[in-house]
Amino acid sequence: MLTSCTSDDLSTRAAAQVVNAHVADELHAGLLAPEAWISPKFLYDALGSKLFEAICELPEYYPTRTEAAIFEHYGAEIARVAGSNATLIDLGAGNCAKAASLFPLLQPAQYVAIDISAEFLCDALAHLRQRFPHIAVEGLGMDFSSRFELPPLVRAERRLFFYPGSSIGNFTPDEAHAFLRRLRAQCGQDGGVLIGIDLAKDKAVLDEAYDDALGVTAAFNLNILRHVNALVDADFDIRQWRHHGFYQPELGRVEMHLEARSDQEVHWRGGQRSFAAGDCIHTENSYKYQQADAIALLERSGFEATHVWTDPQRWFAVIHAQAI
Ligand code: TRP
Repeated sequence: MLTSCTSDDLSTRAAAQVVNAHVADELHAGLLAPEAWISPKFLYDALGSKLFEAICELPEYYPTRTEAAIFEHYGAEIARVAGSNATLIDLGAGNCAKAASLFPLLQPAQYVAIDISAEFLCDALAHLRQRFPHIAVEGLGMDFSSRFELPPLVRAERRLFFYPGSSIGNFTPDEAHAFLRRLRAQCGQDGGVLIGIDLAKDKAVLDEAYDDALGVTAAFNLNILRHVNALVDADFDIRQWRHHGFYQPELGRVEMHLEARSDQEVHWRGGQRSFAAGDCIHTENSYKYQQADAIALLERSGFEATHVWTDPQRWFAVIHAQAI
């Protein structure tokens, strides 16, 4: 469940096998559910991560760019509010670029990068250790979306959980609440969160952001089927599926689905299912919050918002909240 960049190869490999059995069970259960689903974490294999980087370059996909502009514009103030010498814990660090851009201002004492994909992390961390030799840098390969425990190598003082990119929106509000409570339980009175949350807005803007003209988002969503084919020897014919991404204002979320273009049968190691044309597999939700609801969610979870930064259109919010 947990791999660290400093652990030896054997324990890393043993952990990887445990993950695989769990992965197969989870995929199997989702594919056989009355309303089929595949966990969004499977969007991010090597190609998926590149496609997501490409999404972030699209004119329609405003979240990444809008959040980056907020960090750029208010970086000094954010660092002042969050405070230096923190234990900066990056949840879903990826290439670590977002957190690293804050290092010069924030000056954390320790940086702990956590990502489900440990290989991706190790390269990025080697670079960071060279660039910032005075910051203690650690990497943890683990799935923090469910129950998790930080190992003792993570400093206990001044823990600041960094959760950008509106990843919180990929949980249901109940899951988000449970997740934030887990963070609260893992930081002392002196801890906090620095979180990026996408705000509710015009449906047309959201529909375009999640179904772009070039079809990069469609490729990204469809790529999950390629990944599932590789993980459990499935035989999804990708040409027989179509991407849908649209905002449901009454549910406060963007929904991502893959729709079967024809009647078909899909097999995988240990299972199979017939899909009729029009049947859908749900791949992800992306909840969009009203600013006041985001603050209330943090408060219910044991944090008090100390500062909110937004862009001029109020499309995206970066919130610092302190443990209470
Ligand atoms: N976490 C991203 C978001 O909610 C992921 C994402 C963007 C996504 N576009 C997508 C997921 C399309 C599935 C399909 O904004």
